[in-house]
Amino acid sequence: MILAIETSCDDTCAAVVTPEGELLSNRVASQALLHARYGGVVPEVASRGHLEAIDAVTADALEEAGVSLAEVDRVAVTRGPGLIGALLVGLSSAKALAAARAIPLVPVDHLHGHVVANTLGPDPIEAPYICLVASGGHTFLARVDDPASYVVLGETIDDAAGEAFDKGARLLGLPYPGGPELDRLARSGDPAAFDFPRSAPRRGEGRDLDFSFSGLKTSLLYRIKDLGEEESERRRADLAASYQEAIVDALARRVKQSLEREGLERVAIGGGVAANSLLRERMHELCGTLGVRLWVPPRELCTDNAAMIGAAARFTPALPFPDYLDLDAAARL
Ligand code: KG4
Ligand code: ZN
Repeated sequence: MILAIETSCDDTCAAVVTPEGELLSNRVASQALLHARYGGVVPEVASRGHLEAIDAVTADALEEAGVSLAEVDRVAVTRGPGLIGALLVGLSSAKALAAARAIPLVPVDHLHGHVVANTLGPDPIEAPYICLVASGGHTFLARVDDPASYVVLGETIDDAAGEAFDKGARLLGLPYPGGPELDRLARSGDPAAFDFPRSAPRRGEGRDLDFSFSGLKTSLLYRIKDLGEEESERRRADLAASYQEAIVDALARRVKQSLEREGLERVAIGGGVAANSLLRERMHELCGTLGVRLWVPPRELCTDNAAMIGAAARFTPALPFPDYLDLDAAARL
């Protein structure tokens, strides 16, 4: 049994996964309310939050799985990238759990977790495939030929897609975290009401699958200023829908380009933004048209979770006891 722990940002997560990829439990203690008053994740607050929650979340994951610590033969943990203090809490806890029983530890790349989240469950995706990962911290397209690794085909050159959602939501006066709120508000708006710029990545050899979202947020800021307070309040849903349309269009376009360029017939989406209802809809349409099979994970496997860390651990070499005792967390890998 693999016990997996993830604390790279503001969610304290633990899960139990079998070596065959069956998901036995997946627990998340969200700190969203702790950070809401600051309008974003405060690293020090996140570390303290993890410290308080980690033992209970781990115990809950084991209990839900019906697995005792004695049955765990590997502890998987996110080593990075993420907030260094937050990562350290998960890593220290994982080391302690593993070292106490002298079992191996598997240090996992958080992004690898997002990329292979769809290898879990009753209908696992098989390589080769393309995966779009769009979260609050990262946005990239990966090609997976073997689930043990991935090749980045394109990535954002500035803001992540989730960051674009969150910053846009903030400009529209929505509470943090703004992505899901903007998604909800956009449902009653007209996506063609405003014309927002599509991402214009840097030019250059082989960089045509990159993303750029920072211009979009500036454009929303100016549109709100031009409309004035009263009018932009009245047209909030239209602004949200048009803004969301621009982000989703940029993401879906790159997915289409990458599938055509790489000639692959399987695609997965992951990261918090994969929970966006318009992106899900657009991806279904696109894949239907191209005759490509799409994997969209359930929401709890899209946002940060430890199940995906357990999934990646199946394809990552384990460090035997006591080799991992001096292993460090890494803000960047
Ligand atoms: O993967 P995740 O939980 O954490 C990171 O690793 O960043 O992603 C969180 C991001 C946030 O920016 C959040 O606003 C966004 O995913 N998000 C959404 C939706 N649900 C979460 N963005 C748009 N629409 C949603 N429904
Ligand atoms: Zn993530």
